[in-house]
Amino acid sequence: VKCVLWPGLSITNGSIFTVLSLGLSFLIILERAFSLHKPHSIKDMENTFQLVRNIIPPLSARKHKGQDGRIGVVGGCQEYTGAPYFAAISALKVGADLSHVFCAREAAPVIKAYSPELIVHPILDSPHAVHEVEQWLPRLHALVIGPGLGRDDILLKNVKGILEASKARGIPVVVDADGLWLVAQQPALIQGYQKAILTPNHMEFGRLYEAVLRGPVDSADHHGSVLRLSQALGNVTVVQKGEHDVISDGQQVLTCSQEGSGRRCGGQGDLLSGSLGVLVHWALLAGPEKTNGSSPLLVAAFGACALTRQCNHQAFQKHGRSTTTTDMIAEVGAAFSKLFET
Ligand SMILES: *[C@@H]1O[C@H](CO)[C@@H](O)[C@H](O)[C@H]1NC(C)=O
Ligand SMILES: *[C@@H]1O[C@H](CO)[C@@H](O)[C@H](O)[C@H]1NC(C)=O
Repeated sequence: VKCVLWPGLSITNGSIFTVLSLGLSFLIILERAFSLHKPHSIKDMENTFQLVRNIIPPLSARKHKGQDGRIGVVGGCQEYTGAPYFAAISALKVGADLSHVFCAREAAPVIKAYSPELIVHPILDSPHAVHEVEQWLPRLHALVIGPGLGRDDILLKNVKGILEASKARGIPVVVDADGLWLVAQQPALIQGYQKAILTPNHMEFGRLYEAVLRGPVDSADHHGSVLRLSQALGNVTVVQKGEHDVISDGQQVLTCSQEGSGRRCGGQGDLLSGSLGVLVHWALLAGPEKTNGSSPLLVAAFGACALTRQCNHQAFQKHGRSTTTTDMIAEVGAAFSKLFET
C-alpha cells in the first residue's frame, strides 16, 4: 500500500544517505504496517465476518425466552428520550429477547409511548437508583450505558454506582455518549475492566485520549491512537467511529470499512451501541474458540460496526438525503441477513 509513495521520489544525485534513510523509513513503515498495527486487508475483513457468523446463536424452538439476550440500556432524561429508545429497540431487532431501559422518571412515559416492546424503569434519578438496577443485574447479560444520559450530576453519580455494580458482577458494558463524558472525568471507573467497550466518536475520542494520555491525539495515526488509548486503559476495547471505524483491544487493531453512505444522522451511534450490547453477549457466550483466538469483544465490535454501516447503506438507497435513524433501524433485519446469514 505504501509503495505508491515511492514512484514520486527520485534519487537523482545517488546519495547513499538518501538511499539509506529511505530504506530505513521503508522498514519502519513495513514494521508498523505488518506487525504493530495489523491493518485490515479485504481478506482480513472477510475472515472477521466469518468470526462474527460463528458467534451468532442458532434460532431454536427449544430455547426459552431470555436466552438470546436480556439487555439493559442506562440513559434517558428530560431532554433526551430518542437515544435510549433507538439503542434498546436496535438490541431487540438484532435478536435480544428482552430490552430494558433504566431512565429518569420524566423520560419514562415518553419512551414507553414510542414502543410497547421495551420494559421501561423510571428510576435513574431516584435516590435508590443503584439499588434498583442492582436488583435487575442478575437477569441482564449486558448493559449499554450513556444513550441520552445527559450530564446531570445526580444521574451521573447514579450511573457511576451502576457501573461499579456491573463490574463487580462481571457484566459486559458498552459505554457511549455522556457515559464517555463520565469516563473522561474518571478513567479509573473503567480502567482495566476487560468486559468494557467504549464507542467514542471523533470528539469523544479526543476528550478521552487527552484525559487518559495527557497529550493531543496524533490525527495522522488513527490506528496507533486507538491502540494507545486501549492499552492505557488496561486493554479496554475501544471503537473509534468515523469514516472508517477503528477498533482495538490493546493487541489487535481492526478497521471496519463496510460501505455506508455520506449521510450521517443523529442516532446512528445508538443503533451501534444497542446492537453491540447483544453481540458482546453472544461473543462472550461463544468464547475464544469460536473467535479463532481473537478477543470476543473485538469480533462483536466489528460485527456491530459492519451492521450499522450496512443499515446506513440500505436506508440511503431508499431515502437518500432524508435518511434518518428510524429508516436505518427498519433495515436491521435485512442488513443482518445479508452480512451474517449468507
Ligand atoms: C484463524 O487463525 C489462523 C491462524 O492465525 C488464520 O490462519 C486463519 O485465517 C484464521 N481464520 C479466520 C476465519 O479468521
Ligand atoms: C495489554 O496488551 C498488551 C499487548 O498484548 C500487553 O503487552 C499488555 O501487558 C496488556 N496490558 C494489560 C493491562 O493486560
